[in-house]
Amino acid sequence: MEQITIIGSGSMARALAVRMLAGRHSVQILGRNGEKTRELVESLGAGAQGGGEGAAIEGGIVFLAVPYEEGKNTVIFYGEALAGRVVVDISNAVDLATFDQLRIPAGTSAAEEIAKHASKDALVVKAFNTCFAGPLAAGQVAGVPLDVFIAGDSQDAKTKVSAVVAASGLRPIDAGPLRRARDLEAMMLLVMGLQVNPNHNNFNWDTSLKLLP
Ligand SMILES: NC(=O)c1ccc[n+]([C@@H]2O[C@H](COP(=O)([O-])OP(=O)(O)OC[C@H]3O[C@@H](n4cnc5c(N)ncnc54)[C@H](OP(=O)(O)O)[C@@H]3O)[C@@H](O)[C@H]2O)c1
Repeated sequence: MEQITIIGSGSMARALAVRMLAGRHSVQILGRNGEKTRELVESLGAGAQGGGEGAAIEGGIVFLAVPYEEGKNTVIFYGEALAGRVVVDISNAVDLATFDQLRIPAGTSAAEEIAKHASKDALVVKAFNTCFAGPLAAGQVAGVPLDVFIAGDSQDAKTKVSAVVAASGLRPIDAGPLRRARDLEAMMLLVMGLQVNPNHNNFNWDTSLKLLP
């Protein structure tokens, strides 16, 4: 059983926690809003505990379930406290005003930028950005387990994330080195644009990227 820390108390924090608890891992939720964090922890039940923003991190795997900029600030804030831990960037830094561009310069990715600001001994991985919160909480899309694409430069870190993904009923897919995060993030620019496109009014954020068969 792995101890998991989730920074944030929003939709993705909830969905990740549901899946991690389904995989029999224990979950620490660290949110900036005490009441919201408490409500989330209570609704998750056994195996979940909460704490405030800046509390000591207990998990060997730490999910940044906050907007990209805040994820960057979080790794700066925690500094060496993240050394030796797996830090999972799940962000899609899409310009939500236009859904037409990423808020990341060309030639890099949110995950690589987070890695640059993190402790050099933090093991930064990109994962879960291709899973929307609804299907992630359900664990399935169109009746089949979600795929979770995992990019990172540490094989150990990817193996750890793959293990918790598999235990939570999803299919882990090693997508290669951390620079593949550029592709995972670009794919979601396209997918998120399609969710808000009125020509595809049946998508409604209930989709997920899945390789078949
Ligand atoms: N929603 C999805 O389906 C989905 C799918 C894939 C990836 N993602 C990524 O997952 C991450 C979280 O998204 P979400 O949908 O869970 O968002 P959300 O429901 O809005 O939750 C965001 C969390 O981050 C906190 N937060 C927001 N702005 C902050 C700031 N400036 N400083 C500190 N904390 C801040 C919020 O705190 P408060 O509650 O106090 O505001 C909340 O706990 C984002 O990077 C997003 O791109 C989302």
